Amino acid sequence: MKMSSFLYGVFSKSAACLFLFVGFLCHSANSSDATWDVLVFSQQWPTTTCVEWKEKMARHTCMLPLARSIWTVHGVWPSKLHSFGPFFCHSPLHFNMSQLQGIEPQLLAYWTNIENGTSTYDFWKHEWKKHGKCALSLPALDSELKYFEQALTWAKQYNMADVLGRAGVIPNTQGYLGQDVWTAVKGVLGTDSVVHCVTDKEGEAYLAEVRICFNKSLELTDCDGIAGVATHTNCPPDKRALYPGPSALAPGPGEPLRAPWLLGLLRGLQLLHWATL
Ligand SMILES: *[C@@H]1O[C@H](CO)[C@@H](O)[C@H](O)[C@H]1NC(C)=O
Ligand SMILES: *[C@@H]1O[C@H](CO)[C@@H](O)[C@H](O)[C@H]1NC(C)=O
Ligand SMILES: *[C@@H]1O[C@H](CO)[C@@H](O)[C@H](O)[C@H]1NC(C)=O
Ligand SMILES: *[C@@H]1O[C@H](CO)[C@@H](O)[C@H](O)[C@H]1NC(C)=O
Repeated sequence: MKMSSFLYGVFSKSAACLFLFVGFLCHSANSSDATWDVLVFSQQWPTTTCVEWKEKMARHTCMLPLARSIWTVHGVWPSKLHSFGPFFCHSPLHFNMSQLQGIEPQLLAYWTNIENGTSTYDFWKHEWKKHGKCALSLPALDSELKYFEQALTWAKQYNMADVLGRAGVIPNTQGYLGQDVWTAVKGVLGTDSVVHCVTDKEGEAYLAEVRICFNKSLELTDCDGIAGVATHTNCPPDKRALYPGPSALAPGPGEPLRAPWLLGLLRGLQLLHWATL
């Protein structure tokens, strides 16, 4: 989820503290301390992102990736174990779209801004400002181009559609227990992931993101130890999370879009910390 625009420009350390309300989070928002342990690679399921976007406002439309069946990149987040961030690290390397010209078509395909009407560049710029600059300390990621290229490499190599598909977890109408999705990732990749759900007001859960982690050699590693993730998933333990196929978004002939499960998909939900990632 991208931060809404009003927060976008003003997310200073103090704004972060106000926003997050939790003192210990503010400590790690100290951007002069840019050390971190792992890279969290977060992929999102575009259909769920679209559902959330439409829920926010009826007139919202989505820009789904051309390849309808893939998961797309949310971001690559350098993270300290047992803590949050760092975020918004200082660097003179401001986001510069010309650096990415050569890979822009691939970014559009794999790092798609689902939220039509908002700027695609702003999505990338936000991720760069908040996370990418913190990754610069690693030689393998010490430029904007390297950072975005790495995400593309992982999006292809570890696309969640493939990873989950290999374990038989595919979009359907029944959905899955978050723990079963986690087990599927573990079975295919061998490492501990984070399976992230969003839940609507009626308590209907949707599979939203799967996060896998890499160490500083850019090799898969367990996500265990990431703050806020005491368990492997925030999905309901006893109730399936929906994993709707993109066709669930298609309006019927001559009808406006009004899938019942679109209604009531919350806002305030996961808003705490990850909401702004
Ligand atoms: C931020 O971090 C630096 C270095 O870790 C420390 O010297 C400074 O006191 C911290 N500032 C705040 C406000 O926590
Ligand atoms: C952005 O990158 C281009 C291409 O490398 C470079 O020519 C230009 O000076 C950069 N702009 C800024 C503001 O750094
Ligand atoms: C995206 O939004 C524009 C208007 O902002 C609209 O013309 C276009 O049809 C939308 N695209 C999709 C795929 O809905
Ligand atoms: C990353 O993980 C690989 C495989 O477990 C290991 O060989 C390598 O030493 C690790 N690198 C770092 C920097 O921890």
